[in-house]
Amino acid sequence: MRSHYCGQINETLLEQTVQLCGWAHRRRDHGGVIFIDLRDREGLVQIVIDPDTAAAFATAERVRNESVLGVRGRVRPRPPGTENPNLASGAVEVLAQELEILNRAEPLPFQLDDEDVSEEIRLRYRYLDLRRPEMQQRLRLRTRIVQVLRRFLDEHGFLDIETPMLTKATPEGARDYLVPSRTHPGSFFALPQSPQLFKQLLMIGGMDRYYQVVRCFRDEDLRADRQPEFTQLDIETSFMDEQQITGLMEAMIRALFQEVLEVDLPNPFPRLDYADAMLRYGSDKPDLRIPLELIEVADLVREVDFQVFAGPARDPQGRVAALRAPGGGRLSRKEIDNYAELVGRYGAKGLAYIKVNDIARGRDGLQSPVIKFLHDAVLYPLLERCGARNNDLIFFGADSAKIVNDSLGMLRLRLGQDLNLIQGDWAALWVVNFPMFEWDEAASRWNALHHPFTSPRVDSLEQLRQSPASCLSRAYDMVLNGTEVGGGSIRIHRAELQSAVFELLGIGPDEAQAKFGFLLEALKYGCPPHGGLAFGLDRLVMLMAGARSIREVMAFPKTQTAACLLTQAPAPVTEIQLRDLNIRLRRTP
Ligand code: AMO
Ligand code: AMP
Repeated sequence: MRSHYCGQINETLLEQTVQLCGWAHRRRDHGGVIFIDLRDREGLVQIVIDPDTAAAFATAERVRNESVLGVRGRVRPRPPGTENPNLASGAVEVLAQELEILNRAEPLPFQLDDEDVSEEIRLRYRYLDLRRPEMQQRLRLRTRIVQVLRRFLDEHGFLDIETPMLTKATPEGARDYLVPSRTHPGSFFALPQSPQLFKQLLMIGGMDRYYQVVRCFRDEDLRADRQPEFTQLDIETSFMDEQQITGLMEAMIRALFQEVLEVDLPNPFPRLDYADAMLRYGSDKPDLRIPLELIEVADLVREVDFQVFAGPARDPQGRVAALRAPGGGRLSRKEIDNYAELVGRYGAKGLAYIKVNDIARGRDGLQSPVIKFLHDAVLYPLLERCGARNNDLIFFGADSAKIVNDSLGMLRLRLGQDLNLIQGDWAALWVVNFPMFEWDEAASRWNALHHPFTSPRVDSLEQLRQSPASCLSRAYDMVLNGTEVGGGSIRIHRAELQSAVFELLGIGPDEAQAKFGFLLEALKYGCPPHGGLAFGLDRLVMLMAGARSIREVMAFPKTQTAACLLTQAPAPVTEIQLRDLNIRLRRTP
């Protein structure tokens, strides 16, 4: 059927006869001669159909855009002046001898190159959307990335091992997708949120080094970088500590960037403590391309007569911080209001600011809704602490530490973009020394910040039980341009410690036995010290492709409401299927 791809046709094939297959990208009728741009995965080539080849010409007259064609013809130079330098095949064309319509296309629901088509329409007809060169390039890049990663891991002795999809709950902080069992009425499988427990069992099984490119399922609120079903590059090793694991993993990512993008990432990646990340950037996944930092000012405003500042400054759980935006002086009132609206979405009750017009003129050179509350002995040290300069806009957040971090952290990202402050293309780092637990106010209990199998950084069980709040974990996250691309930890490999952590998390012995008895048992029979991590493959590809959402680098993604517009999944099932599964739906009256 085919001798070459359309995109491969060029001067080296002059005068040769070629056979091509592809889609009619565009057809032009030029009074007597018909031109068809034929497209396949590799690109476009111009086909010329002359009335002299009567049969081919008659067929060409019936060709509709996006019909699938087979062509046999001779490669010839384009007439001088008609070359197209934007096409790889632009110096030549194919003079058709035979033309066949392999499949006729109805008019498309949208034009492939129309920029204004909604994502809904694109997802509804994803198979058409995939014909666009952007999508083809992204999925090719994805293939390339996976190949380089697999090769690296293979060269380093990692075994590619599959783990079950129909399994038990694997807690990673989201809801499970459940699958009812027909043979065990009333019982359910859970689809894995990650292969976490299986990869630990593989280490106990002596596999030493494991990896898997694996689908994970999480029923959680979706965002641009979150899908209900996504792909991890999942990795685990035995007998390596966190230095060795993070060292090997960043070497892999360096090799990937070098090979695929010809980008040199730093060696080693910078390492940042979780506590520093929160203090300086308000985020555990800071985008270090933005040279703005949060500035602690609570100590300066503790005694002021302005409760908005003084309250949180005195509260041990509170925080008062400033964010200086260089050049922000040019922001209009309207723009500042928009930022206030932005931080409001993260819980902030307002957004105090000082606009620095002319610092030499003291108060008269400032514009601000709050300086009337700040006497000189507070105001000037505050400006000094922030490093205020003319034409700056200094924002303030005062609230619980969480709200200040979330809101100013977000504001920092937005200002970085809006004021064109982003420096460089890539900023990779490790965030380390996470707290082991975080207090869940609503449920009034501790949660594991990473997952319950992560090793706490403690010398004894007593230490763990006495001060869970100050206990750090042996977890690490890889952050790239403000996105968490991977995370992992050294694991607990002793049954007593695992039981103690379960207990602290409010999982009593009976519940631990019911949920994780197999793990606790396995830990008793010779478990090697082990650790690993998982990369969010979709996120990595998204960043490397310069795409805005992981949906752009997945062939068949779901919508924000976790539905597939193409297949209309999820969908109702028949009564009979439900009966087989012993499921009775309660009818709404
Ligand atoms: P974690 O839950 O941090 O760790 O997940 C690892 C990485 O997977 C990506 N990721 C996602 N990508 C797209 N959509 C989602 N809904 C989604 N959720 C997570 C992120 C994240 O860094 N078992 C542990 C790993 C380990 O400890 O080895 C785990 O799953 O990029
Ligand atoms: P108010 O006294 O409520 O009018 O607030 C005075 C200024 O402080 C306004 O500019 C508010 O936007 C700002 N503001 C109020 N609450 C906060 C807060 N929690 N953090 C930062 N700024 C605030």
